[in-house]
Amino acid sequence: MLFDQVIDKRVSYRKFTDEKVSDEDVNKLLDAANKSPIANGAYDECRLTVIRDKDILSEIVSEYQNLTGKTKDPLFDTNLFILFSSKKDTNAKYEDAGCVIENICLKATEMGLGSCYIRGAINSIGKDGKYIEKLSLDEGFYPVSGVVIGHVDSEIPPRKHEIKTNFIV
Ligand SMILES: Cc1cc2nc3c(=O)[nH]c(=O)nc-3n(C[C@H](O)[C@H](O)[C@H](O)COP(=O)(O)O)c2cc1C
Repeated sequence: MLFDQVIDKRVSYRKFTDEKVSDEDVNKLLDAANKSPIANGAYDECRLTVIRDKDILSEIVSEYQNLTGKTKDPLFDTNLFILFSSKKDTNAKYEDAGCVIENICLKATEMGLGSCYIRGAINSIGKDGKYIEKLSLDEGFYPVSGVVIGHVDSEIPPRKHEIKTNFIV
C-alpha cells in the first residue's frame, strides 16, 4: 500500500472480530514500533508488552471501571493490546509513546488490521494499578499508553479532520 493510502486509511477502530492476530503479524507491528523515534534515543528507557492474556485484559478493564465508576470497556473487548511503558519521569514519555503507537497504528493499517490508541484507561489507573505487577516489567518502568489491535469486519471510511493552521510568511 502506498504511504499516502496508509495515511488516508488510518482511523481508530473500536470493534474487532474474535480472529487472532498471528504471531507473525505481531512481529511486524513490533518491528514498526522499534523503528520509531524516541527522545534522546533512549530506547533502553522504554518497554513494550504484548498482552494477549484475557485475564489481564479483563483486570485492566475492571480496575478502570472500579476507579471511574464507568461501565464502558476501554479496551473494546480486544484480544491484543500492546502496551508502551517508560521509566522516564518527564513528559517525553508521552511523546515517545505517541511515536511508537502511531508507527504501530500505521503498520496495522497497511496490514489491513484495525487499531486504536489507548491512553485514557492507562492514565486513569496510573502507577498503582494492580495489573502492573503481572506485566513482568523491569524495576522503575510504568505503563504510559497502549494500542488495541485486531481484525475488523468492515472498514471505516477515511475521516476528514482539520487542524486550524496559520502561516507566518
Ligand atoms: C494521545 C491519544 C490518546 C488517545 N486515547 C484514546 C483512548 O484512550 N480511547 C479511545 O477510544 N481513543 C483514544 N484515542 C483515539 C482518538 O480519539 C482518535 O484518534 C481521534 O478521535 C481521531 O479519530 P481517528 O483516529 O479515527 O482519526 C487517542 C488518540 C491519541 C492521539
